[in-house]
Formats: sequence, C-alpha cells, structure tokens
Amino acid sequence: MKEAADILDVCCGPRMFWDRESKDRADTVYMDARKGVRIEYEHANGTVSAWEVEPDVVGDFRAIPFPDGRFALVVFDPPHLIRAHSGIITEKYGRLGPGWKADLAAGFSECFRVLRPGGFLNFKWSESEIPLREVTPLFPVRPMYSGKSGRTSSWFMFRKPSGGEGGRA
Ligand SMILES: C[S@@+](CC[C@H](N)C(=O)[O-])C[C@H]1O[C@@H](n2cnc3c(N)ncnc32)[C@H](O)[C@@H]1O
Repeated sequence: MKEAADILDVCCGPRMFWDRESKDRADTVYMDARKGVRIEYEHANGTVSAWEVEPDVVGDFRAIPFPDGRFALVVFDPPHLIRAHSGIITEKYGRLGPGWKADLAAGFSECFRVLRPGGFLNFKWSESEIPLREVTPLFPVRPMYSGKSGRTSSWFMFRKPSGGEGGRA
C-alpha cells in the first residue's frame, strides 16, 4: 500500500481539488472516513455528473491509522458544513457533528503527530457556515502563511516545529 508515499490527504472525498494529473499519485495516500460512495447529479439539460469517494485507506482524522512522523506533507480539508442540507453538497463534502470543535482539535493534533519534524500541514476552511474566528483557536501552531480563494474559502500552511521554533496560534 504505497509504502514510499510521503503525502497524506486525510479527507480526500472525491479528490476535487487535486489536479487531474494528481488524483492518484504514487507518493500520496488518499484517506477518508467514507468508501464506496458514488454521487450523481443530473443537470437541467439532462447530462449527469458523477463523483466517487474511493480512498486508499478508510480512516478517521481523529485517530489517523499511521505511525508518528510518517509524512512530509499532510492535507486537511475537513467538512465545514454544520446545517442539514438536501442535495449533493453534503453528499460531496460531508458534515460536521455537534462536537466539531473537539473533532477538529483532535484532527490537528493527529495531523501533526503523523508529520515528521519540519513537515508541512496544508489546511483548507470555508466560512460558509462557521466563521474562521471559531476555528483559528484550534490551530496547532501559527500558520506560516494563508490565502483566500473565492468568497468563503481560505488556505493555511503550517510547519511542524523541528525543535525550538513554532508556538501556538
Ligand atoms: C470537504 S470534503 C473533502 C473534499 C476534498 N478535499 C476534495 O478535493 O474533493 C470533507 C471529507 O471529509 C470526510 N470526513 C468527514 N469526517 C471525517 C473523519 N472523521 N475522518 C476522515 N474523513 C472525514 C468526508 O467524508 C468528506 O469526504
């Protein structure tokens, strides 16, 4: 199972944001809590789009099934919706539970655990329902840099301290 991979996507979903040439990289383990999920959407003109959630590994970001220090880069794009929605949005992207703050805090802690010292964590958040100010206190360290994409999405890059540097957000 991709023994040499040094990248882990802990919430790969249908791998939407991966480039079309990177949707099944040999150096990347794609993980998700779901497997065998096919999502179909029929457009007004009758054509159908389909997405599949088929991770390499089924796992929970709160208890990542890999040893300490295994990866150089971890990608963390957890569900960001909390309200019930009909349609494909929650089918595609999942939904947070009532204990989402503790869940995300455990996720950050686990992402850092499986990163090697000096490794990178790339986190994505969409503020469509939960503002960033409720999420930033959960960050494991201050991000090195961040950026916005679209109206509600933000990306953050963190580095796991290799000793000495870093500090809480
Ligand atoms: C926002 S989507 C990820 C979308 C993905 N980045 C893409 O490019 O298509 C969040 C994903 O997290 C998964 N998920 C929800 N809870 C999880 C958990 N505890 N552990 C791992 N994955 C989880 C959902 O099944 C969903 O596929």
